[in-house]
Amino acid sequence: MEALVVYESMWGNTEEVARAVARGLGGARVVEVGAATEQELEGVELLVVGGPTHAFSMSRASTRRDAHQKGAPRGGEEVGVREWLGRLPKRLEVPIATFDTRVAKVAKLPGSAAKGAERELRRHHRGRVVGRESFYVEDMAGPLVRGELERAEAWGRALTDVRVFG
Ligand SMILES: Cc1cc2nc3c(=O)[nH]c(=O)nc-3n(C[C@H](O)[C@H](O)[C@H](O)COP(=O)(O)O)c2cc1C
Repeated sequence: MEALVVYESMWGNTEEVARAVARGLGGARVVEVGAATEQELEGVELLVVGGPTHAFSMSRASTRRDAHQKGAPRGGEEVGVREWLGRLPKRLEVPIATFDTRVAKVAKLPGSAAKGAERELRRHHRGRVVGRESFYVEDMAGPLVRGELERAEAWGRALTDVRVFG
């Protein structure tokens, strides 16, 4: 199965999760959201999109700027998962799974980027959402909570299960 993992990451935690998910998928391509052109979607049978949770949902230019001001070394301010999903072709048929990273301390608070992404995809009929998951960091800059990369790999493996396409 041809799978593509597109990620956004300011400190690298979501990228690590993206790479673990790709391993679980049996070696999917992994592309940073700012570099994920429409051509990347050609032939893709499963699209996995993930980003950090900012202000209870997907990041915005203002929250990415905020992250940079707080010392985040990477991530473009112009394009994040929110903007990228907004540019996806309408009536996209490909199955999509969304994930995010969030701070474990506030895990009980509502709001996750993956949930926000799922809502947007459903509202605009872009793709068919077949999975959604959150992975946890200890603090804003990370690190990932112990065991999360293994959980991400297992989630990737589960996404290849035919049942999710049924
Ligand atoms: C501006 C900003 C807002 C944030 N808001 C939330 C939030 O609402 N809930 C949460 O759990 N984490 C929040 N976080 C923490 C991020 O989720 C965390 O930085 C991210 O998971 C780290 O992933 P990354 O290294 O890939 O950027 C916020 C971080 C920033 C910079």
